[in-house]
This record gives sequence, structure tokens and C-alpha cells, in this order.
Amino acid sequence: MGKRCVAIMTGGGDAPGLNAVIRAVVKHGVSELGWRVIGIEDSLDGLLESPRRVHELGRESVRGILRLGGTILGTTNRGDPFAWGPDGKDRAAEIAPALRDLGCEGLIAIGGDGTLGIAARLAEQTGVKVLGVPKTIDNDIPGTEITFGFDTAAAFATEAVDRLHATAEAHDRVMVVEVMGRDTGHIAMHAGIAGGADVVLIPEIPFQWEPIVGKIQRRMAFRRHFSVVVVAEGATPVGCDPTRTAMPGSGRMNLGGIGQKVAEEIAQRAQVEARATVLGHLQRGGNPSAFDRVLATMMGSRAVEAIEEGRWGRMVALVNGGVTDVPLAEVVGQPPRRVNPTGSRVRTARGMGIVMGDEDE
Ligand code: F6P
Repeated sequence: MGKRCVAIMTGGGDAPGLNAVIRAVVKHGVSELGWRVIGIEDSLDGLLESPRRVHELGRESVRGILRLGGTILGTTNRGDPFAWGPDGKDRAAEIAPALRDLGCEGLIAIGGDGTLGIAARLAEQTGVKVLGVPKTIDNDIPGTEITFGFDTAAAFATEAVDRLHATAEAHDRVMVVEVMGRDTGHIAMHAGIAGGADVVLIPEIPFQWEPIVGKIQRRMAFRRHFSVVVVAEGATPVGCDPTRTAMPGSGRMNLGGIGQKVAEEIAQRAQVEARATVLGHLQRGGNPSAFDRVLATMMGSRAVEAIEEGRWGRMVALVNGGVTDVPLAEVVGQPPRRVNPTGSRVRTARGMGIVMGDEDE
């Protein structure tokens, strides 16, 4: 039997740690086990385009990338083979023959819910052997306790809260910081607790204005003329839809803009000066934290082990603090892993006097 050969791709939004996974797969698979690993560029685009954009990954290709953000393979969140390109053509049936043509037994798909969903569909409908590796700064993928990228994003958001604290206090202002997270508030909770915020607003707990304004006014009564508010991009006032903003050049309406609304409303209702800062993609770029490097390396290495054991159709996951694998089909289609509104993080936040904007306060 010839050398085992697998393809690897990164799909969806980037997250710090993607390169660490690629490196781990190459180091464990190629250097230790003698595999061949073929990198596909820009999600599955590199496999479907003619000429193909694929290249073999060896030790040299992954030298020095452990600490780098982004992905050496490139990525896209528009690369769905079931609806490919501007005319939305179904080209999924081409993936299995293209992989066979490259001599690859299967595909390691590193991605979030979109990419993992596509991978599971490819496996089910076209027989491609897939192994999923979950990634997202949002930390919302079911089946795994944590995804790499989250720790780096939450640390960056915490640093931003620290910096805003200083200028908020100097100017007696309310500083609102909008963080990412899509429909979940994991980044906001972590940055809010770690940064000692006064108010944290998350999608899981629709908020009202009165408790927020009440907190700011109570602080003013105690001569604390500044406050820091962390708001997740998907947070909403009770009964309202999430705020979205048009993304230039993509035609998409992404979550975003709630920070400015919160600042305006607070300024008007509490008669204070308020400013909004949107952290945006600063949370996604940058070098992965030590935690994310370790987690990504563990997940990449586990992907190799799982393939050696013939465990295709699985997703590597962190369960009870250890890395393992779970059935991919059981993960996709599940609702995102959300912040538990009555869980320990929210209770801790309330215990610290952080207002979450709901009626309980
Ligand atoms: O899923 C990761 C994420 O960064 C979300 O937090 C955010 O809502 C979205 O991606 C932004 O997407 P884009 O990079 O397409 O603007």
C-alpha cells in the first residue's frame, strides 16, 4: 500500500490557531507517520477551479507558522460546493473524484458551523471521507467545550476594555465596546468579567434600557462618573431584531451597529457623554494565545490519530478537558452553543454587580 494521503482545507472566517492545526497535521502526519498532506487553497475553491490551486505540504511549508494568525491556505465564507460561484451551481459531485485524482483518501475540514455542515453533507450525499476540526472565535460550536480562537479574541477584547476604562475615567464618560460573537455572548461575558465592566449585554438575555441607565446613575451617585459597557454584536433590546450593517463589497448584512445605538440611548437617557468602539476584525487577527496554540495543536494531532484509527465522519472536540472525537452528523444542524442565562458565568457577573440589562436587576 502506498503512503496515506489526505487533503486539508480551512473554510469560513479565520480564527487564530488555524495555522497551528495545519502544522500539527503535517508534523504528526508527514514527519511522524510518513503521510502525504495536500493543502487546498481558499476552502474548496482550490479544488473546483481550473487549474486547481492545491499544493503538497511538507515540513518546510509549516516552519514558523505556529505563532501566526490567519491561515496559510487562505479561506472564504462563500465556498459552498453545493451552490458554487455567482450562479450557485451544484458541483458537490466533483469533490470525491477530484480528491481521488490527487490520490487523497479523505479531507480534513477545519471550519465553523458552515464548513462543518458542508463537510457532513459531502460525506452523506457524495461519500467523501471527512474529518472535521471546529474553529471559531465565537466559541459556539456544539459538541466541543471550547474552540481555538476564542481565547485570543476574548483576551484582545479584555485588553480593549482595560484601555477604555482608563480613558472613560479620565473624561467621565460612558464607553461602550461592541464585540463579536454572532448569536452568542461568550466573548462579551469573558471580556466583561475579566475587564471589570459595569454592564454586559448578550444575545441570550434581551435587555431593557432602565436597568442599564439605573446602573450608570447609581455609579454617578457614588461619584463614579464613568462606566464601561460591553455589548455583543448580537445583543438586542427586548422585542427587537438584531442590528445589522451592510458589508462593503460582499452584499451581506452582518451583525453590527448595536454599540453605537446603545451609546446614543445611554447618552440621551442618562444625560452623560458616551462613545462607542467596535472591535470588529481586530478580534480575529493577531497571533494565537498560548492556550489557543496548544488547543489547536491537540486538535490537529487528534485529527491525525482519528484518521489512523479509521474514524472518518467525526469531528475532533474538547470534552472534559481532553481532546477526543464525536460524530460530525450529531454536531451539525444543532443550535449554536449559547451562554447559559442562569449558568455560572452569568451568576458570577451578577455577583460582581455587572448589570445584564434584564428584569432580574
Ligand atoms: O464567526 C466569526 C465572526 O467573526 C463573527 O463573530 C462575526 O459576526 C462574523 O464572523 C463576521 O464575518 P465577516 O468576516 O464575514 O465580516
